[in-house]
Amino acid sequence: MRTALVTGAARGIGAATVVRLAELGYAVLAVDVAADDPALPYGLGSSAELAAVAARTGAEVFVADVRDPAALAAAVAVAERRWGGLDVAIAAAGVIAGGVPQWEVPLEQEEAVLDVDLRGVLNLARAAIPALLRRPAPRSGRFLAVASAAATRGLPMLAAYCAAKAGVAGFVRALGAELGGTGVTANAVSPGSTDTPILAESARLYGLPGAAEFAGQQPVGRLLEPDEIARVLAFLADPDSGATTGAVVPVDGGLAL
Ligand SMILES: NC(=O)c1ccc[n+]([C@@H]2O[C@H](COP(=O)([O-])OP(=O)(O)OC[C@H]3O[C@@H](n4cnc5c(N)ncnc54)[C@H](O)[C@@H]3O)[C@@H](O)[C@H]2O)c1
Repeated sequence: MRTALVTGAARGIGAATVVRLAELGYAVLAVDVAADDPALPYGLGSSAELAAVAARTGAEVFVADVRDPAALAAAVAVAERRWGGLDVAIAAAGVIAGGVPQWEVPLEQEEAVLDVDLRGVLNLARAAIPALLRRPAPRSGRFLAVASAAATRGLPMLAAYCAAKAGVAGFVRALGAELGGTGVTANAVSPGSTDTPILAESARLYGLPGAAEFAGQQPVGRLLEPDEIARVLAFLADPDSGATTGAVVPVDGGLAL
């Protein structure tokens, strides 16, 4: 049985990824902060949502803030103790802030974006990659992160978010090179506008009536569903994806074109 740890698991893309991996037979540790962030003006995933994902999938729940390296180390230790090892770690937790020029964004909001969206990914790698490497060779460990079309597009009023996501892209490229012939790979996906609460918050930051307004910007002419991102993550989590490493795979309906 393959095992996976997914952050940002209470809702959105992280939750859809837990559902998809559980359907594929993975044992999953569903990790989320499951609390609002006082620095941010919108709500994050709740403990009730996290519990609902667990009830639906049989995943185990672990409450942790990805900004806390010790908490992520504890989560990895739980997965290894419970299932004897870890095969896949997916960094999907993320937040957004902005809506005004960078120099006007409150510092605590900018810190939340950089610390969760970039530092949180590095923290998960620090905790999880040693566990992926503890599996005996031949390995098929997978470290995956959710970047964004914002990693390559300059989105006004979302400068810190763009910086964090570009950082994630650079990070997985370097990790892929570092991991070399270990059998463990590192990749990211870059979603386009996907119908989750973070997109609703993006619409609010741009003064738009709702997330549906973003559909027209995307060549496919619609918003993406979280499961469409989860399916690509599930492919990259599979041992069959071993030829792909250090890649940032667009799953964006053409948004980055
Ligand atoms: N929805 C989109 O259009 C879109 C596009 C590109 C990239 N993304 C990225 O996809 C990822 C998932 O976002 P989503 O769309 O599902 O948004 P979402 O807001 O629905 O889900 C994010 C989840 O992350 C959790 N989280 C936030 N801060 C955390 C922390 N410090 N520690 C642990 N968990 C934390 C939240 O509680 C929530 O459950 C994010 O990295 C986001 O930046 C989303």
